[in-house]
Amino acid sequence: MLPRPFPRFADVSAYFRCLNSGTRFATVQHKMFEPPHHPTPPWWQSAVFYQIYPWSFQDSNGDGIGDLRGIQSRLDYLRDGTTASLGVDAIWLSPIYPSPMRDFGYDVSDYCNIDPRFGTLTDFDELLREAHRRGLRVIMDLVLNHTSDQHDWFRESRTSHNSSRRQWYCWADGKAFGRRPNNWNARFGGSSWTWDPQARQYYLHSFLKEQPDLNWQHPPVRKAMWDVVRFWLDRGVDGFRLDAINWLGKDMRWPDNPFRFGLRGYTRQHHLYDRDQAIAHEIMGELRQLVSAYPDVALIGEAAADTPGGPASFYGHGDDELHLVFDFRLMKSPWRADSFRRFLSDHVPAIPKGGWPTIVFSNHDQPRHIDRYGTGGDAQARARAAALLLLTMPGTPFLYYGEEVGMRNGRLRYRDLRDPYTKRFWPFRPGRDPARTPMQWDASSHAGFTAGRPWLPVSPDFSQLNVAREAVDPRSLWSLYRSLLQLRRMSPALCRGEYRLIDGCPDDCLVYLREARTDQGWERILVAVNFAELACEFSLPTVPSQGRVLVSTDPLAGEALWDPRHTHLGPNEGQLVRLI
Ligand code: GLC
Repeated sequence: MLPRPFPRFADVSAYFRCLNSGTRFATVQHKMFEPPHHPTPPWWQSAVFYQIYPWSFQDSNGDGIGDLRGIQSRLDYLRDGTTASLGVDAIWLSPIYPSPMRDFGYDVSDYCNIDPRFGTLTDFDELLREAHRRGLRVIMDLVLNHTSDQHDWFRESRTSHNSSRRQWYCWADGKAFGRRPNNWNARFGGSSWTWDPQARQYYLHSFLKEQPDLNWQHPPVRKAMWDVVRFWLDRGVDGFRLDAINWLGKDMRWPDNPFRFGLRGYTRQHHLYDRDQAIAHEIMGELRQLVSAYPDVALIGEAAADTPGGPASFYGHGDDELHLVFDFRLMKSPWRADSFRRFLSDHVPAIPKGGWPTIVFSNHDQPRHIDRYGTGGDAQARARAAALLLLTMPGTPFLYYGEEVGMRNGRLRYRDLRDPYTKRFWPFRPGRDPARTPMQWDASSHAGFTAGRPWLPVSPDFSQLNVAREAVDPRSLWSLYRSLLQLRRMSPALCRGEYRLIDGCPDDCLVYLREARTDQGWERILVAVNFAELACEFSLPTVPSQGRVLVSTDPLAGEALWDPRHTHLGPNEGQLVRLI
């Protein structure tokens, strides 16, 4: 007979009835991160975010492309409190503005409207209202560094040297003998400069040539963008995910970047002058001031992992730049205990007091983590252990659509590809389209995503890996995500508790403690994860109390008592233990 699956707690009181009131756990090692004290902590600290890639979530009109009405039809899935609902707190929509879609929405041609592929402003207002009715917050993506070359601002800018918008973009003359203004290279390959015959100058683009960089040194650009921010805040959105912020501002004397030897492509130069300028922090400070007039708005920044001072530098002094900043180190790391340990011991404490960490394993720019972490081992078991880490490490977790059912990278042929970056480096780099295939809802045709022909092929494993099938199986990955989300919501220790790494486990394991004071006493949760393909057993002499395993990522394990002298973890198993 299979052991009893782990309990689902229907309400907070049931969860706390199984907690013993305890004292604070004083003897563990390394106090690493103490959350800032807020009288009423902001919502985004305990929230779980869910990233929706609008192209791929749900199509409502049969054109093969996801849309706002489609998203609205799935809101109950994301949050309605019933057992078929995942239970997240906020959605982040990748860009839905009008766009020629060269970079699938990250090339915006009008910041104050909705692309007709996705719907209308009326559809958006209805989606926002319906999301808010369910207690679900909505975050927009905001692309500040560049616009589309089809944006009216750029069209006007390129008309002549005397155009009133000439200074809005970065124009420069070439050097003698038809050479470009300098050696800067673009993130998506090739030079950052393109000659514009109409403008009779070169313009700068840090990504695709269809994405000219704005000139943030020019005050009217800021004013125009802050008007955009107010436009959406006045409509009621709950915040912004800010794209590529460490590219804002350039050294406009246009000096060459120094070469780095031995590396290829974008990394073959030190990006000293085309990125990471001090002005980016000034701009973020200005934006923070602007949004402080609106209650409860969250600013979440995307900064490259190698930006000086790390992404943590965009928290400013902890209260004067961004509320949250993505840290992509775990999104690029392999499945290794030391990577996760280093993240917790070095990067999380680097966040200034007042700042708050983010935990993110996958997004629309990188291969999905189930395949990345799964390489060379049991991918299913690792995906389950990763879910435990994502939802229990200190900070705000970001789920990427479909990871809850174990969606993998699509295996696409060249002719299926849509993203210019993916095409350019295919088949030498994995690219981005494989992580953007349609959401797998059920086993019907096209996985329930569309009645038409999907814009990217649905992954062939959809008949096994889909929401409908997994939601009724208590041992599925989906059910594990849901239980963890439910438990997390009821647990002050997991949402906002202090955090400590615990020493003494084997190198292939990671053990940490989350603890918080509650009305019932101290709630203490220990998380132990084995990253190895072999089982292990160890003792944790610094942990003086026993506990109960509330969740194991092994689908066949049941509830059990836990003794620090005999911690047993199966291969790639994670356990969540309530200490008594
Ligand atoms: C960000 C986005 C990515 C986009 C790039 C340029 O990194 O996540 O999808 O291509 O910025 O806007």
